[in-house]
Amino acid sequence: MLKSQTKTIFDVETIRKDFPILQRKVHGQPLVYLDNAATSQKPMQVIDAIDFYYKNYNANVHRSIHQLGEEATAKFEEAHEKIADFINADSHQNIILTKNTTESLNLAAYSLTAGLKNGDEIVISQMEHHSNFVPWQQLAKLRGLNLKFIKIDEEGKLDEESIKENITKRTKIVSLTHVSNVLGTINPVEEITKIAHENNAVMVVDGAQATPHMPVDVKKLDADFYAFSGHKMLGPTGIGVLYGRKELLQKMQPFLYGGEMIKEVRFDGTQFNELPWKFEAGTPNIIEGIGLGTAIDYLNKIGMKQIHERDKELVAYAIERLKEIEGIAIYGPKERGAVVSFNVHGVHAHDVSQILDSEGVAIRAGHHCCMPLMGVLGVTATARASFYLYNTEQEIDTFINAVHKVKKVFGV
Ligand code: ALA
Repeated sequence: MLKSQTKTIFDVETIRKDFPILQRKVHGQPLVYLDNAATSQKPMQVIDAIDFYYKNYNANVHRSIHQLGEEATAKFEEAHEKIADFINADSHQNIILTKNTTESLNLAAYSLTAGLKNGDEIVISQMEHHSNFVPWQQLAKLRGLNLKFIKIDEEGKLDEESIKENITKRTKIVSLTHVSNVLGTINPVEEITKIAHENNAVMVVDGAQATPHMPVDVKKLDADFYAFSGHKMLGPTGIGVLYGRKELLQKMQPFLYGGEMIKEVRFDGTQFNELPWKFEAGTPNIIEGIGLGTAIDYLNKIGMKQIHERDKELVAYAIERLKEIEGIAIYGPKERGAVVSFNVHGVHAHDVSQILDSEGVAIRAGHHCCMPLMGVLGVTATARASFYLYNTEQEIDTFINAVHKVKKVFGV
């Protein structure tokens, strides 16, 4: 029985038909896929685009002067343009395709810290994913820079005092997640970017958990760099994006050197290619880029505002239902993205996940690549359910019943 029947913004049942995997069973139960923050499922439209490429115009890009090469190049370049439009960037020149968010953030971290000097400061936060943590930590060690952390408050939001204390004239780079993959916190990126810019610092944003779920407008946010992955937004794995401000990208040293990122190579030096190709060395993930373009077409057809609204309905319903159960700790603020991290008192998160799996319910359990945050929360792990446009309230009911089963099995 649904406790609160929420209004459906779009036709979820029609959407579900596009995702063949949602028809499968796990341990004899219908799959309830609530691990969307780790990766999303893929619609037929994306699967077909990949199939069509390999069957019809598989070729390398930017090299071969033949029909297939030209078709592949045109589609790959079109993907850059679709991505630019999707986040309201000026042009394809702002869009560097990488392997994933981690690579995008590594690119930003390596290139941006190259010109810094001993004692310069980089500011991140306590809630960062390892991909927006370890690169800055390691480069700070390598280059003698100071890494500082904005604290989180009791609710799981960035502490306002700590933002002001940490971002100062000594700050050269601020790098923050837009939406926390553990707490669901939606950070005020626009306001923090203003503070960063007032202090002449460069603003980098990890948008991995935001771009799939809400409209992202890089002009409005005014951030200098914005990183995200294709596979969390209905696209294939192996494709990530780094949006960058053109003036900065032009000045920056490439992260990877090799083929295709050059205009001219001589024995005594190299002239780099124009943007964005200067940062796309070697044969890129061609179909993955084209597949992401197709995923963007799919998301645009539904509308990112609608997807964001629907996410809010799903997560609110899941929290309301989890709160009915005694002995559940829920982490993160009320206003949040499409994730809920929780613990069942007296049961390890891995056991929670295993019992849920036996009921066909896929969630993630562990530190979620946020070990420092786990320490701040005073836990070693959480269970996490994360939602997307194809999830339903009925699936959340199945999830809740499975959590009841956990309590029964462990006698808590
Ligand atoms: N960053 C992804 C997650 O939170 C993999 O699960």
